[in-house]
Amino acid sequence: MMQAVLQEAVRLLRTHREGKISLVSHLDADGIAAASILSKALDREGIHHTVTCMKLDQIPDVEPADLILFSDLGSGQLNHLSHLDHCAKIILDHHPPLEYSVHNAVHVNPNLSGYDGSSEISGAGISYLFARALDRENADLAPLAIVGACGDMQDFGRLSGLNREILEDAHSTGLLEYGDDLLLYGRYTRPLFKSLQYFSDPFVPGITGNEFGCKQLLETLNIGKKDVQWVTLSDLSFQEKKILASELVKRSIHHAPPDLGRYIPQMIIGESYSLTHEELSSPLKDCNEFATCLNACGRRGRFEVGIEVAKGNRGIYYDMLVTLLQEHRASIACALENMSNTPVRRISGLQVIDGSGIPDTIVGTCTQMLLGQNGIDTYAPLMAYTPSDRDPDVYKISARCSRLLLYRNIHMGKAMRNAAREAGGEGGGHAPACGAYIPAGHLDEFVQHFAGLLSLQLGQPHG
Ligand code: C5P
Ligand code: ZN
Repeated sequence: MMQAVLQEAVRLLRTHREGKISLVSHLDADGIAAASILSKALDREGIHHTVTCMKLDQIPDVEPADLILFSDLGSGQLNHLSHLDHCAKIILDHHPPLEYSVHNAVHVNPNLSGYDGSSEISGAGISYLFARALDRENADLAPLAIVGACGDMQDFGRLSGLNREILEDAHSTGLLEYGDDLLLYGRYTRPLFKSLQYFSDPFVPGITGNEFGCKQLLETLNIGKKDVQWVTLSDLSFQEKKILASELVKRSIHHAPPDLGRYIPQMIIGESYSLTHEELSSPLKDCNEFATCLNACGRRGRFEVGIEVAKGNRGIYYDMLVTLLQEHRASIACALENMSNTPVRRISGLQVIDGSGIPDTIVGTCTQMLLGQNGIDTYAPLMAYTPSDRDPDVYKISARCSRLLLYRNIHMGKAMRNAAREAGGEGGGHAPACGAYIPAGHLDEFVQHFAGLLSLQLGQPHG
């Protein structure tokens, strides 16, 4: 069914190929990966186009063109496209679509064809399917779709559904390899103790956020160092990884709620995805880290740098990307430091933190990283708010939870969308990660609604 709509989208593109064409994508890793795939595919067709990546609240500012391709956004903002009624539109998105009819558009969304857009395919994945429908030769862009899926945290245990098909495309081009490994971040680039220290889903007692504890464990196990130098995860032997994995599983099972304990191993050992042609120590080698690089470019206001690098243009762009990554990490570290003493309120099962002072571009990433830190419970959802950069009378909300809570059938994106609507705002997103914009005067009302809906989902009493 999706093939038919993809073909319709391809026809629409071909009809407008001589017109003014713009790509509008989301300003996160998935969105930038999506824009890179589409831009490369259009370059190959000799189709001139412009590219913009933006935050969701900027959609009303999108300028008209003969044809606009929206990627990784649009489906949740169909109500903000009426000023573009006269423009042809292709929407390539995986967010839950609004029930809203939109003029002059081909809407490609996996949720409309019986797939789960939260877990089975990303915005970059849909964009890839479109590029492949345009020309099979675009199969070499499949690795970027995997980067997008990782950016949206769809690599939970292993990629599944349509992502799996795309993974096979990526693998068969020889550009991507995958296999089971410890699911630590910084496989090729970080000293092992640092990778351990930042591991927080699941929370590992004595390890998560504890540099000293990480070094001590590695010394006890006699792994992690070659001569006096710290090694990275990728330097460990299979046997060493096994020893480390069983220690992490043992510790975190002990700490996990009884009903979730049996899912712990798959949070610690799972598939990892690497790009074969990237250098070993490059932050682009591991698909998850590649995603962070793209995110860094977007959040630092330089999405075009990420797009150039993803399209294969290195040199100066690569140097700029590395600088942006360093700046991004510094700004997150600074924001987390500023928040280390901020109290956490508990409303029913929801943890709420005032993130005022955090730029709205990184409040989502900070919320994610705060889970398991500073006494914040990993096994309860966390929500942060900060004034929006665009309008200080509006709060940007981000919420995150451990992916383990998906086993209790939580869907925070649905709760977020409904609570935001009730409070006169707009929001949505995926099961473990979502966001919203809420008028400042309605924040408390929103929090109450959101906490209540989450309690209902989790079968907890609210009040
Ligand atoms: O902004 P943040 O990173 O917290 O967003 C998490 C997820 O929620 C993203 O997938 C984003 O697209 C989605 N979201 C949404 N509507 C909003 C804000 C965020 O669907 N108003
Ligand atoms: Zn996405």
